[in-house]
This record gives sequence, C-alpha cells and structure tokens, in this order.
Amino acid sequence: MTHDWLARNPRARRDLPFGREQQYVVNPNGVPELLDELKACPAHRLTPLHSLPALARRLGIGQLGIKDESQRFGFGAFKALGGVIAVHNVLSGAVGEAYHHSPSFEDLLKGKHREITARFTFATASSGNHGRAVAAGARLFGNRCVIFLPKFTSAEKEEAIRARGAEVTRVDGDYDTAVAECRRRSDENGWTIISDTSWDGYEDVPRSVMYGYQVLVEEVVRQWPAGPTHVFVQAGVGGLAAAVIGYLWARYEPRPRFIVVEPESADCWFQSNLAGKPTPASGAADTVMGGLACREISPVTWPVIGLAADWFMTITEPEVMPARRLLAHPLDGDPAISSGPSGCASLAGLLRVCADEAAFRELGLGPDSRVLAINSEGNLGEGAA
Ligand SMILES: Cc1ncc(COP(=O)(O)O)c(C=O)c1O
Repeated sequence: MTHDWLARNPRARRDLPFGREQQYVVNPNGVPELLDELKACPAHRLTPLHSLPALARRLGIGQLGIKDESQRFGFGAFKALGGVIAVHNVLSGAVGEAYHHSPSFEDLLKGKHREITARFTFATASSGNHGRAVAAGARLFGNRCVIFLPKFTSAEKEEAIRARGAEVTRVDGDYDTAVAECRRRSDENGWTIISDTSWDGYEDVPRSVMYGYQVLVEEVVRQWPAGPTHVFVQAGVGGLAAAVIGYLWARYEPRPRFIVVEPESADCWFQSNLAGKPTPASGAADTVMGGLACREISPVTWPVIGLAADWFMTITEPEVMPARRLLAHPLDGDPAISSGPSGCASLAGLLRVCADEAAFRELGLGPDSRVLAINSEGNLGEGAA
C-alpha cells in the first residue's frame, strides 16, 4: 500500500461474474420496469447526470459525469428511493400473504387494503436522510412512523422528519446507539423496522432499500450509453455503494473500476477491506458527513462491495468544503450543482486522487477515463447531517 488513505481490494477479481450470491444482495431484475412505473408518479423525474468538461480537463481525465440526486422527488437525496420502496414492499407483502395476490403500487397509495396495512407502525434509526425517507414512505401509505436520531443530527433534519408526520426520539449517542435503541423499542412494541443496514437475521428490508436505490443506477445506464470506466461512490453502511456496484457489475462487461469513499473517522469499509472481513471503523465517526457517519458496515453487502470494489479510500474533513464549493461555483461553462457534505464526498475522493500523482496512476486514470461520481444529497441547509 503506497498511501494510508488508499487501499486496493485484494479480493476484487475482474473475471468474477455477477452471480447468485450477489443477486441475493442487489437483484437487478425488474429495476428497469420499476423505473418505468415510477414515471406515472407526478413527483418523479429522472435526476440529472451532469457533464463537467472544464473540471474533467483540469483534473486530467476524459469525462466527468455527476449523477445529481439533490433533485430526487423534490426530496433532496437519493435516500427517498430506498425508504419509499421498502415501506411499499412490506405492505405489499402483507397484503399478498393475506389474499395470495400482490396489490399494485397505486392500490396501496389509494388505501385499498387498509384492513391489512393500517396496523403497521414503521420505525428506523437514521442520521437524518433515511429517517426522512421512511417518514415520507409511511406518510404516503398512511402509516404511523417513529424515527430514532443520534445526538448530533441537526435540528433542521429533525424538523424535516417531523414535517413528514413522524414521531422523533433522540438518543444520547451516535448512529449505532440509535440502531440499538430502535431495535429494543420495536421489539417491545411490535413495530416494523425499515433499516438501511442489516444484521444477523435481518436482511430482507435492507435488500428492499437497496433494490430502490438501483433505480438511480438504471437512470445512469440510460443517460450514459458508453458508461463510466471509473465510479467514485461514498459509503456509510454500504447500501448505496452496493446498489451502484452491483447494478453496474451486472450490466457492464467489463465492469467499471469502483472506488469506495469514506470519511477517515468513519472508515468501516476501509478497515473491513484491510482485515478481509466486516470490521468496525478506526475512529469515532465524528464527521461533518452525517450520512456517512457509520462505524459498522451492513454485512449483507459484503459479497458485492467486498468482492468488487477495486479500491477503498478515505477523505479528511477539510477536503469536504472545497469539493462542495467547486460544485456550487463550477469552472467555466460547467453546471452549478447543490450538494451537502455527504453528497460531495465522492467528488472529494476524486479530487484527492487527482492531486496525488501516484494515486492517479494507480487507479489508471487519464485522458481516456470516463468518471462517474454520485452527488447523493443537495444542500439541505446545514453543515452537519
Ligand atoms: C447523503 C447520503 N449519502 C450517502 C449515504 C451513504 O449511504 P449508505 O449508508 O447506504 O452507504 C447516506 C446515508 O444515509 C446519505 O444520507
């Protein structure tokens, strides 16, 4: 390893096919159809894939595409896709079990099966965005919702969750403390947890969440026929990265090179890669990148990220603002993009690599590279999560 912030994945083999083990984590089947169905929904728009030729030139790469999730459903983050689809899938499954047929999305929206669906209370732990997404999903289908927030989540994010009709409980601790409290209270009360992270015996819902995230990747496939050669994707527990890596792995031959970016204090994927198995972060996850402030990976994602991410890297706190500024005040002719601290993290990763000659060479970047970075959230009006 030439850098203490960049590490190759020794398990990533280019010839490993996307197989059954991967399909269990993120199943690409039905995603194009789901995207087509969403078009019937008035809030749905394809989010932009911006091209930034001036910045690409400055960085010495061929093309730079930024998938801009700041505009997802007017919600401000990609998370909306996961929360809404996962709530839908739980309700649809309950109706299907009772009547032996699956209801349509539209029927559930119209409250057609309230005799089955009304009894569900949804709960989740979140550093903000996922909670807002689950609250939005619960409200859409008319269900009660309780969100557990870590101590450091901003008042704006708490307000945004309450504005979607959810009850909020603050815990005296970080994201992982919120997960533990959510599990305890949900067990006591019979609530259904819509978690974006998995644990032993709890995988179906996080898989539904990731299923929803794949919609944004299918959009990229349609928007960029040539596809990227390199993909920078930020990770908290790894749900977004698994959806991006898994979907592109399944769709492209050869698959692009994947680089997973994390805050240095929340480097659970970086450490897991070094150890060769799920391993906690080396720091206390006290980062301004609230959506990425996770100390443990989502274990169900290992067969995708652990076997196909090509490099893992970290970024430092002072690297966030320059990336965010560069998106908001772009170089000549490039589009301006609104981002939050977690949103711009993948670009911050690319900037770090491009500022270091050895890292740039190691990743095989150059004038022929087509690089994709994900702006996973817009400027939600705060510096922290
Ligand atoms: C804006 C933003 N980006 C990225 C992530 C990381 O997603 P994951 O935890 O699935 O890795 C999150 C998670 O909450 C987020 O809110």
